[in-house]
Amino acid sequence: MPITIGVLRESAARERRVSVVPEVAEKYARGGAQVLLERGAGELAQFPDVAYRGVQWGEEAEVLQRSQVLLRVQPLSVEQIGALKAGTVVVGFLQPHARREEVLALQRGGITSFAMELVPRISRAQSMDALSSQASIAGYKAVLLAANELQKFLPMLTTAAGTIRPAQVLVIGAGVAGLQAIATARRLGAVVEAYDVRSATREQVRSLGARFVDTGVSAEGSGGYARELTEEERRRQQEVLDGRIAAADALISTASVPGRAAPKIITRSAVERMRPGSVIVDTAAEQGGNCELTRPGETVIHQGVRVLGPVNLAAELAYNASEMYARNLLNFLSPALQEGELVIDWQDEVFAAACLTHAGQIRHEPTRQTIAG
Ligand code: NAI
Repeated sequence: MPITIGVLRESAARERRVSVVPEVAEKYARGGAQVLLERGAGELAQFPDVAYRGVQWGEEAEVLQRSQVLLRVQPLSVEQIGALKAGTVVVGFLQPHARREEVLALQRGGITSFAMELVPRISRAQSMDALSSQASIAGYKAVLLAANELQKFLPMLTTAAGTIRPAQVLVIGAGVAGLQAIATARRLGAVVEAYDVRSATREQVRSLGARFVDTGVSAEGSGGYARELTEEERRRQQEVLDGRIAAADALISTASVPGRAAPKIITRSAVERMRPGSVIVDTAAEQGGNCELTRPGETVIHQGVRVLGPVNLAAELAYNASEMYARNLLNFLSPALQEGELVIDWQDEVFAAACLTHAGQIRHEPTRQTIAG
């Protein structure tokens, strides 16, 4: 019997993405698996039911009961997990640090769950790196939001009515999202500056045609991520940055430290030094924001400066976000899909690291400790 790979409509607020797009559904089918979708699963991402070929359709309860593998964008609810058979494999963004009840339900239910957040960032796993694919979308979209809010052109224009100066864009945090933001702002013709605490970003920023803001502070951490800064380092960083923030027409902030609240980098007083009409797009809003004034999901106007705190930006570009995410999932599962059967090699470091729960246990040690503590 070929395995059944199930896909539900995502029900979280503002979620528009789907975990399988038609092209990827065909690949699963060619590999011998049966794809079972809930009706309308891809509709909000502009993949209507008719676009999916060679798949089966069912209602939510049937998809939950029949799937041996369930593909998700957002975590399942406790009730949905309760409807799964023991041994079902669930793969998606499972937010292990934030969803205690759901993780416990996965454990209790004997579910084998893989969290895409936990896929190790090794070169072999780049094609499965859903954090990166979705972060690059967020960086792109953040610039478009800023451009829309600004009452200025981004590019320099030479017109019969005179010359228009290009807008100044500052990007704080030059990880995956930040680098895409820089590239997007440059394509639109803005003059771009960027800042990150990791010195490795200096060359990446420059190669995209932006100026690197040098504060003389480095925060190299382990695994390619940033570490937290000391008080003195923070103060020095802040002084230099505040000057660049004041000069920006648009500020895109993307700074984060894994597993922690986003660092507060843009203070109220820095915002008060910006020109009225300037815009901040804080893509770290969901992790508490890089700006003191950010409110997730809202736009705050402070002394003429608009502070946007967008939530789930990748879902705003749901068509391409779903395509990229669905391919990440396919690339993750492919090594285990053998002639329609699912065979997980637990010696494979990608499966071992990404596993959240299996056989009644929480396999991800930091999550187990947080929950036990
Ligand atoms: P992230 O979303 O955790 O953080 C975004 C950026 O914020 C990072 O570049 C970080 O250095 C920066 N940041 C943190 N605190 C800051 C502060 N106080 N001020 C300014 N900036 C601050 O990181 P992301 O984008 O998910 O990845 C970070 C890095 O990991 C990448 O740039 C890359 O070097 C590495 N990576 C490696 C991959 C691979 O080898 N397969 C794949 C993806 C990323």
